[in-house]
Amino acid sequence: MNPPLDPPSPPITELPDDFWVGAADGTDPNALRRVATRFGITPASAPHVSSYGIWLDELGWALHAPIALGFTPLRLDFSAGATGLRLRQAGRRQPLGRAIGLKPGIRLHVVDATAGLGRDGAVLAQLGCEVTMIERSPVMALLLRDGWDRTAPAEAHTRVSVYCDDARHALDQLASLPDAVYLDPMYPHRDKSALVKKEMRVIRDLVGDDPDAGELLLAALDCGARRVVVKRPRGAPTLPGPAPLRHIEGPNTRYDIYAPHDSAVTQRPITNTPSPSKR
Ligand SMILES: C[S@@+](CC[C@H](N)C(=O)[O-])C[C@H]1O[C@@H](n2cnc3c(N)ncnc32)[C@H](O)[C@@H]1O
Repeated sequence: MNPPLDPPSPPITELPDDFWVGAADGTDPNALRRVATRFGITPASAPHVSSYGIWLDELGWALHAPIALGFTPLRLDFSAGATGLRLRQAGRRQPLGRAIGLKPGIRLHVVDATAGLGRDGAVLAQLGCEVTMIERSPVMALLLRDGWDRTAPAEAHTRVSVYCDDARHALDQLASLPDAVYLDPMYPHRDKSALVKKEMRVIRDLVGDDPDAGELLLAALDCGARRVVVKRPRGAPTLPGPAPLRHIEGPNTRYDIYAPHDSAVTQRPITNTPSPSKR
């Protein structure tokens, strides 16, 4: 079980204008107080209709968007819906598992350095990886840890830890070297039409466009992991920086694979020898 997530104060990334936090009667007043204090916000007595905010009720924290966006409040649930199905169907031979280098009987430590809604990281945990999730948006990190603690598959629950930090710096402070670092920065869609999913739009409003993804790639390549995997839309350019060694393609997605510390890694399986202490 994760300890209560105290978002850093002040938050690492800016909160949207007029962001609010609140809680329903009967919920743990300490949970609300802790989050409101960290965000430097006076708790709201009811959800506001014109700005972003998070509301705690008996089912956990949910993200609310301005009512004009017609967005159903987002509460992370790893047991139901498309995410639950994806976890139940997770297989090591899927492009994500192959890109990370999963092998039967080997438990890899993966740092998911752009955790977001935790869906890819949850798949890796379900497939047996120890997953350190790093997310710099305190709102996303809070939703993620809350959702994981309430609804994670029992067998994977303790394999995930969630940290709220900027991975460009946190990757340099890991207690042990991970086998792989996974990056899935926001992709700047040019399509401004309704085709861009509503959820993606809301998340983009909240976390921005990740213009520093190239810096994050360099930090990942430098942190000592033998493999770095970057998820990109099919046909998208690679991140700025060194060229990947190879890639694996899924139906809509491409995984660019870098092996910063061993150019022979593409021919050699990643082994699960105990990680040396980094410091
Ligand atoms: C496209 S989302 C990731 C989605 C995720 N793979 C999933 O399956 O839900 C990108 C996330 O990376 C986070 N992010 C981007 N750069 C980061 C950094 N340097 N440190 C930590 N988080 C970062 C953003 O805040 C955003 O939430």
